[in-house]
Amino acid sequence: MGVGRGYGKLLLFGEHAAVYGHPAVGLRLDDYLEVELETPAARSSEGVQWQWPEFSENELAIVRRAVEALPHPPGGGRLDVRGTLPTSVGFGSSAAFCTALIRAHLGADALPPEELWALAHELEHHFHGTPSGIDTGLSVYPGASAIHPKPPGLPRREQITLPAMTLLVGAIQRTSSTAELVAGIRRARETDATRVEQTLARLGELARAVSRPGTDAPSVGEAADEAQHHLAALGLSTPALDALLETLHAHGALGAKLSGAGGGGAFFGVFENTGRAEAAEAALRRRAEELSVPVIYQRTLTL
Ligand code: MEV
Repeated sequence: MGVGRGYGKLLLFGEHAAVYGHPAVGLRLDDYLEVELETPAARSSEGVQWQWPEFSENELAIVRRAVEALPHPPGGGRLDVRGTLPTSVGFGSSAAFCTALIRAHLGADALPPEELWALAHELEHHFHGTPSGIDTGLSVYPGASAIHPKPPGLPRREQITLPAMTLLVGAIQRTSSTAELVAGIRRARETDATRVEQTLARLGELARAVSRPGTDAPSVGEAADEAQHHLAALGLSTPALDALLETLHAHGALGAKLSGAGGGGAFFGVFENTGRAEAAEAALRRRAEELSVPVIYQRTLTL
C-alpha cells in the first residue's frame, strides 16, 4: 500500500495570464490532499476491480484517466483521498491530487522535484486541457515561487522572497469549474483579442513586479487591487466575491483579490501585520453570513 501527499497552493498573481506564457507568483500551502493506493502485486492484478471513493461520474472519469497515465499503471485496487485542502475552489486541488497520486504510486521520494513536477503537469492535463504548470509547480516546491511558463513545455521556477506581510486567505463556493473559466477566457481572446491580450500581459507584469526584490506590503496590496480590477473586467469575479473583498478593504486590507481561476472560490487580502488581519476576520465572517455565502476556508498566513 502506498500513501502520498500533495500540497495546495495560493496563487497571488498571474492566474489565467500564465496559460498564455506570462509569469505567475504564488505560495505552497500547508493544506494537502493525501492519496492512499492499495494495488495487488503486478502478476495478480489482472481482473481486479477498482474501488473508488465517492466521486461524481465526471470526477471518476478524470481520476481514472490520471491513474492510467501513471508509469506502469495499476490495473485495479483501492484508491482513497483525504486531507485538509478544500477541493475545486482555487487552491490547486487537482495539482495536489496529481502530486499525491504519483507519490502514492512510486514512493514519497522516488522522483526528484523537477521529474515529479513534469509528471504531475502531464497528469493535470486530464483535469483541464491546457494547464500552465503553475499549480503543479507550486504544489511541488515549498515556499514562494515565481513561475515562468513556457507553453506547451514545463515552466521555469524561481524561488523568491516576498515582503513581510500577513495574508487573510478565504474561499467561498465557485459558480464554474476551472475548465469552464479557462475556456471562457480562450473564447474572449478569440473575439476581443487586443483587449484580452493587453489585460493578460498586464496581469503578468504585476506578477513580475511583486517578485522583484525590495517590494513592500503596500505595493503588493496595490498590485492586488489592480489585478482584481482586470480579473473582474474579464468576468472572473462574482458579486459575492466583490462584496467580501470590499469588506476586507473596509477593515484595513492594503489590497485584495481573487486567487486561482475565479468564479467565486479562493481570495486573499494583504495586511501590514497579523493583528490587522485578525481584526478583519470577524468582519469577513459577518459579511458572508449577511450575504448567505458560507466561507468554506479561512486562514491567516504571516510571511
Ligand atoms: C488555476 O489555478 C490557474 C489558471 O491560470 C489555470 C492554469 O494556470 O493552469 C486559471
